Amino acid sequence: PNTILIGAPIDEGQRRPGCVMGPAAYRVAGIAQAIHDLGHGVEDWGDLALPALQAATCPNPAVHSLAEVLGWTEVLADRVDDALSQGGLPIVLGGDHSLALGSVAGAAAYAARVDRPLFLLWLDAHSDFHTPLTTQSGNLHGTPVAYIAGREGFEAFPAFPKPIPAERICLYGIRSVDPAEHAALLKHDIAINDMRVLDERGIVAPLREFLDLVRDAGGMLHVSLDVDFLDPSIAPAVGTTVPGGTTFREAHLVMELLHESALVTSLDLVELNPFLDERSRTAKLMVELVGSLMGRKVFDRPTRSF
Ligand code: ARG
Ligand code: MN
Ligand code: MN
Ligand code: MN
Repeated sequence: PNTILIGAPIDEGQRRPGCVMGPAAYRVAGIAQAIHDLGHGVEDWGDLALPALQAATCPNPAVHSLAEVLGWTEVLADRVDDALSQGGLPIVLGGDHSLALGSVAGAAAYAARVDRPLFLLWLDAHSDFHTPLTTQSGNLHGTPVAYIAGREGFEAFPAFPKPIPAERICLYGIRSVDPAEHAALLKHDIAINDMRVLDERGIVAPLREFLDLVRDAGGMLHVSLDVDFLDPSIAPAVGTTVPGGTTFREAHLVMELLHESALVTSLDLVELNPFLDERSRTAKLMVELVGSLMGRKVFDRPTRSF
C-alpha cells in the first residue's frame, strides 16, 4: 500500500509548546525519502488544520483545550478513515498523543465498515488511560486509551466507533501510571507490558504473543508510538521523559518484528517536541525507526524469521 503522511500539528493535549513543530521536523529529517528509498510509494497530504470550534464543556475543571482537542479528533478520524479507504497506510505525524483520540477512531470506523477486528499496540512510557473526569493534569493526551477502550467520561466526544475490546489492546514499555489509571486498568483485561514484565521476559516474547493474536484473528493493527517509549538518553525531545525507557537496539527490534509481521495497518508518531531536541537527534531516530518498521534491515535474509 501507499504510505500516506498526515501532518497533525496539535499541541493542545498538553501544556508545553513545541509539538506543533513535529510534522515539520519529520519532513526535514527526511521521512518521505526514507520510506520511498525502501521501495514504497509515499503521498504527503500536508498538515491538517483545526476546524471551526464548537463550544464544549467538561465537569472536571482541570481539563483544558477541550474544544480544540474535539476539533482535531473529528478531522483526524475523517482523514485516517479516508487514507485507509484508499488502500493506504496512514502515518500520522504528531503532534501530542491526544491525536490518537482521532486517528484510532478513524481506523476503528474503517475496520467496522470492512468488518475486521482492530487491535492496538501502544508503545509508551504512560498508559494514557485517564478519562476527562479522572485526569488531574487536565492534559487530554493522557486519555486516548480510555476513549478507545470505550470507558465512560467522554460524553463531550463523539461516541467511539466500536470500542476496542480490552483483549485486543497491548500497552508496551509502560513505566508511569497514575493512581486513577491504575485502578481502572485493574478492571480491564488489557495486556500491560510494563518495564517489570519486559525486563524479565525480554521485549520479543510478549510482542510476538500479541502479534499472533492479531494474525490469528485476521485483524488490523494500529501502532501508536510515543517518543517517551524510548529512553530519554537517546530521545530527549519530549515533554514527558521517564527514565528507564527502551534502548536503541530494543526499539529497532520492535520495529523489525512489526515489519516482519506485515500486520501494521496504521501508525501514529507522537509527542516529538523539536524545541527540546539536541541537534535533531530525536527526530532523526524516529525516522530511522520508521525505516525499520518499513523494512530496513542490517542484513537481508531470504526467509523471514517468523
Ligand atoms: N498520566 C499523566 C497525565 O495524565 C501523563 C500523561 C502523559 N501522556 C503522554 N501522552 N505523554 O498527565
Ligand atoms: Mn472523509
Ligand atoms: Mn502517550
Ligand atoms: Mn508517554
